[in-house]
Amino acid sequence: MFIRILLLALLATPALAQGELRGHGGPVRALAVTPDGREAISGSFDSSAIVWALERGTARAVLRAHESAVNAVGVTPNGFVTAGEDGRLAIWARNDLTKPIRVDKIHTAPIAALSVSPDGTSFATASWDSSLAITPLEGGTPRRLEGHQGNVNGIGFMPDGVTLVSAGYDATLRIWPAQGAARVIKLDSPLNALSIAPDGRMAAGGSDGTLFLLDAQGNHLRKIEAADSPLIAIAFSPDSMRVAAASPRGSVTLFDTASGKALFTLNGPGLPVWSLAFSADGKVLFTGGGDRLVRRWSAVNGDHLGPIVIEKPTEMFVSDGSRGAEVFKACAVCHTLTPDAENRAGPTLYGVIGRRIGTASGYVYSAGFGAHDIVWTKETIAKLFELGPSTFTPGTKMPEQRVGSDEDRAALGDFIEKAARPR
Ligand code: HEC
Repeated sequence: MFIRILLLALLATPALAQGELRGHGGPVRALAVTPDGREAISGSFDSSAIVWALERGTARAVLRAHESAVNAVGVTPNGFVTAGEDGRLAIWARNDLTKPIRVDKIHTAPIAALSVSPDGTSFATASWDSSLAITPLEGGTPRRLEGHQGNVNGIGFMPDGVTLVSAGYDATLRIWPAQGAARVIKLDSPLNALSIAPDGRMAAGGSDGTLFLLDAQGNHLRKIEAADSPLIAIAFSPDSMRVAAASPRGSVTLFDTASGKALFTLNGPGLPVWSLAFSADGKVLFTGGGDRLVRRWSAVNGDHLGPIVIEKPTEMFVSDGSRGAEVFKACAVCHTLTPDAENRAGPTLYGVIGRRIGTASGYVYSAGFGAHDIVWTKETIAKLFELGPSTFTPGTKMPEQRVGSDEDRAALGDFIEKAARPR
């Protein structure tokens, strides 16, 4: 419940500084990094997921299969999975991210968390309908696990690949063997988040800010007063030695798993943090925040390494120093302006002025996008970002975003007209 209240508070805050580099139009609710460290996937309240090419810092694809917030994401051997407030699970293949392989309606209430089995053949989901489900990659009826009394907020496979652990708002942690009854562990606080370390240790985050650490058998190791507000995201480092915990009002703190000591707290922009993920080598901690950005931090000393956009704006497009170029920075993660440049997550905007909607060659638009009766002009582009893509072009996969002021929208149009003019 608190998530909804917080979201309302966040949406009520005034628009952030324009021109900031970002991809999402809402808080970043879920994050995962591929084992080779080359890609990350983020899920957002804006109802999209974005696959990022980490080396360049650009958005590779916008994934659109959910009707509302994408609450959970995962990496599979051949692609990605996303799950949402709409109770659906979508499975994506890396070699074609234009549409999901399959979308299954699994739960009758929001899915709050998901976990990919270590062998990548099944997906476990935790839902506010009080149940868990295990869905095979190949399809078929999900196996349903019931017992929690209320929202289930966290889920994870144990290293054996079959045992599941879940964390619920009913203040229980449940360990589900492949067959037979679950073992129920009562904790002192309703639980919002769960992470399973590669060595099987478990960390659960309480709504009173307590971080519960348990061993692989479910025995209590320690209780850490991690924050004075609910813990909302937890992640173990790949070597199981450290655990990061985030609270929406507080910040992100890294703890030593063995001693329970706080190592350091992240200090800087991007708070509150909604989601956490370590790089596979454990050196970088990624955070997804209320500021709609994915940020990178040193997991060694907590230094802020900057937003995920790594290429300098000047390398992403040629800025003429105008206000419009400044505003366009927010678009450049997804759009290039040149004919030869590849399509990013969005189509190239080369020659977009005077072009009919949905006609850039070599780009796969979302179904129905091209059926809108729009020709792009400075005025229609201004309208697109005055009303927001989901209002002006319903059904689009472009994440919801707005450009706040008349002047900025006019400057943006002038810049695009000039910079994207066919040569
Ligand atoms: C996170 C990625 C992302 C960001 C950021 C983004 N867009 Fe898009 N944009 C897209 C996608 C994806 C599409 C294709 C929409 C579809 O197929 O539903 C698109 C489509 C468009 C189109 C229609 C193009 C056509 O060929 O019909 C325009 C115009 C556009 N974007 C302008 C912008 C501008 C200006 C900004 C910055 C204010 C921006 N976009 C920011 C992803 C993005």
